Amino acid sequence: MEIIRVNNYQKMSEKACALLTDVIKTKKNPVLGLATGSTPEGLYQQLIEQYSNGELSFKNTTTFNLDEYVGLEKNDPNSYYYYMYEKLFKHIDIPTDQANLPSGVGNDLEKVCQDYEQKISQAGNVDIQVLGIGLNGHIGFNEPGTPFSSRTHIVDLDESTREANARFFNSINDVPTKAITMGINSIMNSKQIVLLVSGEKKKDAVARLVNGEISESFPASILKQHGNVVLIADEAALGNV
Ligand code: GLP
Repeated sequence: MEIIRVNNYQKMSEKACALLTDVIKTKKNPVLGLATGSTPEGLYQQLIEQYSNGELSFKNTTTFNLDEYVGLEKNDPNSYYYYMYEKLFKHIDIPTDQANLPSGVGNDLEKVCQDYEQKISQAGNVDIQVLGIGLNGHIGFNEPGTPFSSRTHIVDLDESTREANARFFNSINDVPTKAITMGINSIMNSKQIVLLVSGEKKKDAVARLVNGEISESFPASILKQHGNVVLIADEAALGNV
C-alpha cells in the first residue's frame, strides 16, 4: 500500500482528484467507484471545478457508489443518492443512467444486491474506487466481522456507526439500522483503490490499518493485500505512522 502524506484536507482532495482525472481522461469508458461521508466532499468539489473549467467531461463515465441506507427514498436528504446528486451529479454532465447507487427501498433487496454486482461486472469492473474509512475500520458499510469474501449485501449497522453518522440526522433514532453495501470482495475487485483519510479523529484507525494485522475484525486491513492501493492521508490523520 502506497502512502501519500499531505499537509491538509485540501491537498488530499487535490491529489485524489488528480488520480481520478487521470483515469477519466485516459479510459474510453471509465468506471468510477464513489463514496459518501465528509471525506470525499473536497474531491467532488475539485471534480466539479475541473468540469466547469472545461477540462473534464463525464459523458462516457459510469459510476457505482459503495452503499445506501435501507429504507431511505432517493429524495430523503439523508439518502446517499441525495448526497451524490447534490454534491456531484447535478453539477456535472454525467448521464443519469450512468450514475449508479444500490436502491435501499423495495421488496426484494436481495435482487437489488445481485443486480448491482451484475451491473458492475457488465461495466467491466471499477477502474478506480474512492474509499473513506469508518472509525471502526469499516469500508463502505462493511462492519467489523464481515467476511472478506462478501459481495454486495444487506448489513446491520454497528451502533458506533449509527452514532458516528447521527450528526447528519435530527436524532440517532432517525439513523437507519440497515444498509446495503458493496462487499469487501466487490471492493477488492476494483483495479485501483484510493483511500482518503483526514483529521485527528481517524488517527487510531490509520495506525491500526498501517501497523496492524490483516483481520476481518478490521475490514480496511484487507486493502493491504490489493496490488494497487494508495492511501492519501493528511498529517493530522497520519501522526507518526
Ligand atoms: C460512512 C460511509 C463510509 C464512509 C464513512 C466515513 O459510514 N458508509 O463509506 O467512509 O462513513 O465517513 P466520513 O468520511 O464522514 O468520516
